[in-house]
Amino acid sequence: MEKGTFSSNQLEEIISKLDIVEVISEYLSLKKTGRNFKALCPFHQEKTPSFIVNQEKQIFHCFGCGEGGNVIRFLMKIDNISFPEAVQIAAKKAGVKVVPYGYNKNTGDEGEKIFKANEFAEECYKELLFSPQGRRALDYLIGRNLTEKDIRRFHLGFAPGTKDYLVNKIIEKKLEKRNFINAGLINKEGDTDTFRNRVMFPIFDIRGRIVGFGGRALDEEQQPKYLNTGENEVFSKGKLLYGIHQAKTPIKEKGFVFLVEGYLDVIKLHINGIENVVAPMGTSLTDEHLRFVKRFTERVLLSFDSDEAGINASLRNLESILKMGFETKICMLPVNFDPDRFIDEYGIEAFKKAIGQAMDFIDFVM
Ligand code: UTP
Ligand code: MN
Repeated sequence: MEKGTFSSNQLEEIISKLDIVEVISEYLSLKKTGRNFKALCPFHQEKTPSFIVNQEKQIFHCFGCGEGGNVIRFLMKIDNISFPEAVQIAAKKAGVKVVPYGYNKNTGDEGEKIFKANEFAEECYKELLFSPQGRRALDYLIGRNLTEKDIRRFHLGFAPGTKDYLVNKIIEKKLEKRNFINAGLINKEGDTDTFRNRVMFPIFDIRGRIVGFGGRALDEEQQPKYLNTGENEVFSKGKLLYGIHQAKTPIKEKGFVFLVEGYLDVIKLHINGIENVVAPMGTSLTDEHLRFVKRFTERVLLSFDSDEAGINASLRNLESILKMGFETKICMLPVNFDPDRFIDEYGIEAFKKAIGQAMDFIDFVM
């Protein structure tokens, strides 16, 4: 069989083993209406649902924008991927073995190579964190009330202060420097690591691929406090939400998304059982973030640091959130507290209580 082609038998087998309702439910919150399932269409902006899934026929159709087709078509559109890649994903879900293919139109070879480079770097950073050299970083994380299990769950790592730790690993394993340069992990000359003396937070996309990193400075005077991967073919700050991979199912189950500001807020909440939580990365929320969130829910919970800067920043986000038609609640925290710090100081039960007292947006403005 040729690369990237699939026999029609194989395709049929994959499609017949999948339930389109189940697959689409991983992306959207579907509501049963009569014989069909309904949702807000993820492919165009709308206020009332015109996106229909028909379980009997195993197809979807949007009466608003006209998009429609089978499960493969849905995967292609929703993840913005090529046909062979969608088949590959569907096959995996269906438990059908298909011949691996070597290309991917969405991100191109380039994108795939960046994922690979990031995976390699992630392994290197993880290895170091749990080695004697990583002691200080590990102590730092433990000091922030994370256990080894939590640290492993979020694949945290350590980039040492040395200029060329990753560079040397790349040379040792005879890997292409170019891919690491494109991933933003080493400089253009290929002799210096981007991330140094930082705790590393891999950033996963919705499908669990590592698109980049956030690196937190270990020393007080080190700037910036968080260094993120620069924009590249697969890393776009305006689109990505930290934690979405782990949060997507909980968001649908709980019926709302908890939007916070920082990496550690996401992690701290998650390990304390509040899993429907995501954060943008250092930028304010974009409409693209929000459209993405809308695939899963129409309700948002925000937590505000109650100082003036915190409120002002949040008000800016609020405007876009409300414009997009989200039902919005706001939970106020004391001045200079974020969820991470609040939980460290007062515990998760106190935090849940604060959430329980969250105000509707209107009351907040008053
Ligand atoms: P904060 O400065 O509020 O930090 O930035 P934090 O998340 O509470 O971090 P800790 O608790 O001190 O470790 C909020 C978020 O803004 C982004 C990061 O995503 C961070 O989590 N940020 C912040 C940057 O991208 N760069 C920075 O220099 C600072
Ligand atoms: Mn914090």
